[in-house]
Amino acid sequence: MVGLGLISWVHETGYDRVGDSCRIVAMCDTDPDMAANRAALHDATPYTDFGQLLEDPRVDLVDIAVPHDLHHDVAIAAFEAAKHVVVEKPVATTFADARHMVEAAHAAGRMLAVAENTRYVSAYRVAEGVLAEGVLGDVRTVRSLIAGSEVARIRDPRTWHGKAPYGGVILDSAVHSLYLYRWLFGGVVDVTTHASKALPESEAEDNAVLLGRLRDGGEYHLHVSCTMEIPWTERLEIHGSRGSLVVDQLTDPVVRLFEGGDDIVGSSPGAVPYDPQQWKFTSMFEEIADFVDAAREARSPLVDAADAAYALEAVEAAYRSLEIRDRVAV
Ligand SMILES: NC(=O)c1ccc[n+]([C@@H]2O[C@H](COP(=O)([O-])OP(=O)(O)OC[C@H]3O[C@@H](n4cnc5c(N)ncnc54)[C@H](O)[C@@H]3O)[C@@H](O)[C@H]2O)c1
Repeated sequence: MVGLGLISWVHETGYDRVGDSCRIVAMCDTDPDMAANRAALHDATPYTDFGQLLEDPRVDLVDIAVPHDLHHDVAIAAFEAAKHVVVEKPVATTFADARHMVEAAHAAGRMLAVAENTRYVSAYRVAEGVLAEGVLGDVRTVRSLIAGSEVARIRDPRTWHGKAPYGGVILDSAVHSLYLYRWLFGGVVDVTTHASKALPESEAEDNAVLLGRLRDGGEYHLHVSCTMEIPWTERLEIHGSRGSLVVDQLTDPVVRLFEGGDDIVGSSPGAVPYDPQQWKFTSMFEEIADFVDAAREARSPLVDAADAAYALEAVEAAYRSLEIRDRVAV
């Protein structure tokens, strides 16, 4: 594992849960105490230089959870060392770098698994099934929200969150929704962006709304915020010509299907546990299990790295829209 900060704990638990077929053998962080303490939990070797970790012959798969700007360089070095890669989202900070990573994985014959946990959120899998069954009819409007609070980290001058070189909430969170749109609706045709800074300490946007048309038809309204004082949550509304599906991780039931204006109560189209605390972590445990299986069985993971890269192409269009204050084709 390279990068032992906040999200690495979830990955670590994910590998532990996989059981005997995988073991954490090396842990790297530039903070030597962090590396030593975390490695001790697994009887693993601590490193402060990822280049040295990559020389460790016991390492088959490298899990990268460093700040966004380092994803590309660590992943490319890992492929050069013939390792499989799990990399956190966003794949990279630019579409070109993300594409380069996809090509490097292919050239090395190794797996590039993007930890785009969206693909493993059970409510979205139910949405995929409902869409496939055609219950909603033609999709007219999709609205999505990713919201929570990163206020403490943005205000902390020691962290990278909210600092200009790392991008804002569009790069950090809209990638999830844009990946989701790619998966469920073919992607987006165009984007018009509004963004703002709710906190004076934010160097990059901490709120944004992206609007446009979906490739498979219909329009979208995508809202991301990291200054909402609410448990970290996601909401998705799919409104079709015959009905609407509403996913909301803070409501019970999490998924509700409404078949027309008279269907006041709605129904539950699939069993999704109401778990506002753990739903995101649960999806991450599932992604890690899929990635380990995929590496062992030499198959592709559920997340196609090209689709995760596509999300960055759309992110770049969203930032261009901000610059020119107009709609941009994707
Ligand atoms: N899938 C999700 O929903 C999700 C959630 C949170 C974070 N993430 C992603 O995970 C990544 C890490 O986020 P985080 O919140 O854990 O960040 P963090 O700042 O808490 O942790 C990053 C760690 O990387 C270490 N590091 C920095 N440079 C390094 C280097 N050269 N070599 C080794 N270690 C280095 C830091 O010391 C730190 O411990 C980000 O890209 C973020 O977008 C994804």
